[in-house]
Amino acid sequence: MSHKTQGLKNEVVKNEKLAPEKQELLTENLVSSNEYIYTGIIFCILLLFFLVYYYFRDTLYVGHLHEWMNILIRWLHITFGIAWIGTSFFFVFMENSMHKNKNRPELKGDMWMLHGGGFWFVEKYQVAPKVMPKGVHWFKYEAYFTWLTGFGLLCIVYYFNAEAMLLKPDGLIELSSTTAIGLSIASLAIGYGIYHGLSRTPLLKKPLLFGITLFLILIGFAYFYTQVFNARAAFIHFGALIGTFMAGNVFFVIIPAQKAMVKATKEGTYLDPAIGQFAGLRSFHNNYFTLPVLFVMISNHFPSTFGHDYPWLILALLTLGSAGIKHYHNLKEKNQQSVWVIPIASLILISTVFITAPTTIGGECEKVSFTEIYPIFQERCVSCHSASPTDDVWTAPPNGVVYDTPQDIVKLTDKIMQRVVITKTMPQNNKTGITPEERDKIRCWIMQGTSLAE
Ligand code: HEC
Repeated sequence: MSHKTQGLKNEVVKNEKLAPEKQELLTENLVSSNEYIYTGIIFCILLLFFLVYYYFRDTLYVGHLHEWMNILIRWLHITFGIAWIGTSFFFVFMENSMHKNKNRPELKGDMWMLHGGGFWFVEKYQVAPKVMPKGVHWFKYEAYFTWLTGFGLLCIVYYFNAEAMLLKPDGLIELSSTTAIGLSIASLAIGYGIYHGLSRTPLLKKPLLFGITLFLILIGFAYFYTQVFNARAAFIHFGALIGTFMAGNVFFVIIPAQKAMVKATKEGTYLDPAIGQFAGLRSFHNNYFTLPVLFVMISNHFPSTFGHDYPWLILALLTLGSAGIKHYHNLKEKNQQSVWVIPIASLILISTVFITAPTTIGGECEKVSFTEIYPIFQERCVSCHSASPTDDVWTAPPNGVVYDTPQDIVKLTDKIMQRVVITKTMPQNNKTGITPEERDKIRCWIMQGTSLAE
């Protein structure tokens, strides 16, 4: 069958009766059973972890196990995440950059690429080929496993230790750990429901309006999170929510659409191009979500981001700025010039550096001697930051930071200033109850030159 005769009709017309040798291809099982085996293995490993953890939960080993579960699941999470976001970038890049071929109206476009020491030629169909090809690759497990491991991390870091990691120490609303965890899970489900609902309104066809509405909804969630959780947890929840949108798009929309396409192609029945287009749009949303999510993932290591007085504002600016950068890329790949997108996005991003800068902190200082400072560290810090911590969760000094001797303290005064005085993100969740006066004493002592003299 020549490509020309196949033509555009393929989009809307029933596929013709297939030759017997081609029908044989159709009987092949598309989703290989290997996929189920991999899923089973991953679930078994996760289950094993939880069982081991449960068995050792009241022993000396719990902190150690906790840490290793964190490491392994985090490792999996970033690995799957890289694979997923990599494919998202790559497929949107191809979508944007492929050329139309006048002689092949059944194609959306094609393109040549050079990679790994070889030439590649890729064609994208408007809807589907006439005959279901053999061995089609799907891209979904990256998404599913990124979400599952991400949720695993949420459990390990925030739910298992909700009192210290999730709850807001000085919150207006007093929450129990269970309520906080309930709110966390419910917010992800409700958030996805709202986004999915919004995508089913006519607004979807108006990208700018849709973007603004979704942005406002997201900021609403960011604000909600900063009211019920501590700032660090609020940040990660914002990322988890967007990550849930992304995985939900794959699970509830994109893969079902692809299944429908495969089914129609196999049976040679009518295939509505709108199904593929709708899925394509959701996959395009995912592309815009990637940079904000990545930012949130790294922000957890940088207290000047979540330590700001209005953490939701920082989230808003970084979401806007980074989605702007992605927009610029998408326009560029389509060869559409845009002079204003990058400058505005960059300005928004850079503005956060200024907004999070420390303002004039504190007032005049009286002379503070080290004898006043040392007990504060003894009382508020060494339960965690010591060679042998007494804290119930931290059984090894976090980040290797110890304050056992005066020299240990002097070595790290820059970071102490940043964490204790400016961002107020230490002691962690203020577990040891440091007072504002004590923070100010530390500030004055550092500003007076960190003298160890009495
Ligand atoms: C409940 C345990 C706990 C207490 C108490 C605590 N910290 Fe921490 N600290 C942590 C953890 C966990 C980390 C690593 C995670 C992070 O950076 O938020 C950390 C990280 C730090 C860091 C960053 C180290 C780096 O390499 O970036 C500094 C600085 C710090 N703490 C200072 C202090 C000071 C000063 C106090 C006392 C006023 C204190 N901490 C009290 C748990 C604690």
